[in-house]
Amino acid sequence: MNELKKRAGLILDAPDADTNSKLLKICQLLDQEVDYYNWTGFYFRNGEKEELILGPYVGAETDHTIIPFGKGICGQVAVSGETFVVPDVHAQDNYLSCSIDTKSEIVVPIFKDGKNIGQIDIDSHKIDPFTKADEELLQWICEKVAEII
Ligand code: SME
Repeated sequence: MNELKKRAGLILDAPDADTNSKLLKICQLLDQEVDYYNWTGFYFRNGEKEELILGPYVGAETDHTIIPFGKGICGQVAVSGETFVVPDVHAQDNYLSCSIDTKSEIVVPIFKDGKNIGQIDIDSHKIDPFTKADEELLQWICEKVAEII
């Protein structure tokens, strides 16, 4: 995870390249290096509206390009501002299915100037794969992302 942090830091600290291409590179890095990350993407709040819009991602195309606050795991994190680890998505009532292969999910909020502005969302084809190390890595990435948004 430390090696991944280093590589993610290099991507986000690069002086050139626009923000969206940096975010896409982060998705590609995580997707390539962590075998149980099977869909990795960013959602951001749509201005002052209470909805999220899909940003850069790697993985299967999703119908959920716009998610109202409160809907699904992502919409719940938009409201709570807290990391949400879902070991088994089938045990969740308020869940938006993106792929039938997805078994678990983690969503980590991105805060800028105290405001919940978006999140990183990762789906896995494995049951209960996420550990504190995942949470810590993703929270660190979200803090770095907030610096360039
Ligand atoms: N599963 C998410 C929707 C986004 S897709 O996983 C890409 C949710 O319940 O909010």
